[in-house]
Amino acid sequence: MFSKVTFLPFFARRFLGYIYFDYFRPINQMIKAKNIFKSYDNLAVLKGVNLEIQKGEIISIVGASGAGKTTLLQIIGTLDKADKGELFIKNTSVEKLNSKALAKFRNENIGFVFQFHQLLPEFTAIENVCIPAFIGGKSKTEAEKEAHKLLDFLGLSNRANHKPAELSGGEQQRVAVARALINNPAVVFADEPSGNLDSANAKELHELFFKLRDELQQTFVIVTHNEELANMADRKLTISDGIIIN
Ligand SMILES: Nc1ncnc2c1ncn2[C@@H]1O[C@H](COP(=O)(O)OP(=O)(O)OP(=O)(O)O)[C@@H](O)[C@H]1O
Ligand SMILES: [Mg+2]
Repeated sequence: MFSKVTFLPFFARRFLGYIYFDYFRPINQMIKAKNIFKSYDNLAVLKGVNLEIQKGEIISIVGASGAGKTTLLQIIGTLDKADKGELFIKNTSVEKLNSKALAKFRNENIGFVFQFHQLLPEFTAIENVCIPAFIGGKSKTEAEKEAHKLLDFLGLSNRANHKPAELSGGEQQRVAVARALINNPAVVFADEPSGNLDSANAKELHELFFKLRDELQQTFVIVTHNEELANMADRKLTISDGIIIN
């Protein structure tokens, strides 16, 4: 049997351990991915990716076509599952969530912007922006107030009541950014967000990401073939042969 003397120091050590852990826990850490593996049949795409992203960082991910950028983004964006590895978003171990909890977590914490805006054609810009807020349980008044604020911020207040087909490509993509931001996510994942835009609209969209970072501390992970955008990021990560090489 353990005596009181051997017991107390044990608990004392455990207690100090927790304090130590909490004190040094990186509170600004948004994403931590450890040793991510993913294969499609016998094609090994990701072979042990490690990644840490802090709040307010803009990370670009580059690499050859087929290198696994979208695959990685879908996994760290919780839209797909790794075969092996661990993923923490805001210190939540994502693999431990069941599908309902994961859908809620995604709705509350993650925004997506894709190459093609994927706005719903039957709905106006403001309605599209409101959808994730409605899914999250916000009232119409609350959601619309927030959506108007975002559309204003993105220079789109006079386009709010137009449907996607009545908007320019750049405007559609900015509406998609507003939709990604409506629930105040921890991180926005963007997969070639300017891939479908001319250079002037691409530049405007890229500047917007940095304005959102500077003014709202928004974190972005952006897969891009646009060299200028990739180089503007705080960190540029290159995927090659299934791992991040820098
Ligand atoms: N669902 C799938 N089933 C089978 N193979 C897939 C699937 N998704 C992707 N792949 C393959 O995995 C590899 C990585 O694809 P991925 O889409 O991640 O590349 P990428 O780096 O985003 O390329 P790009 O720059 O062309 O978008 C490719 O060889 C692709 O064909
Ligand atoms: Mg891709």
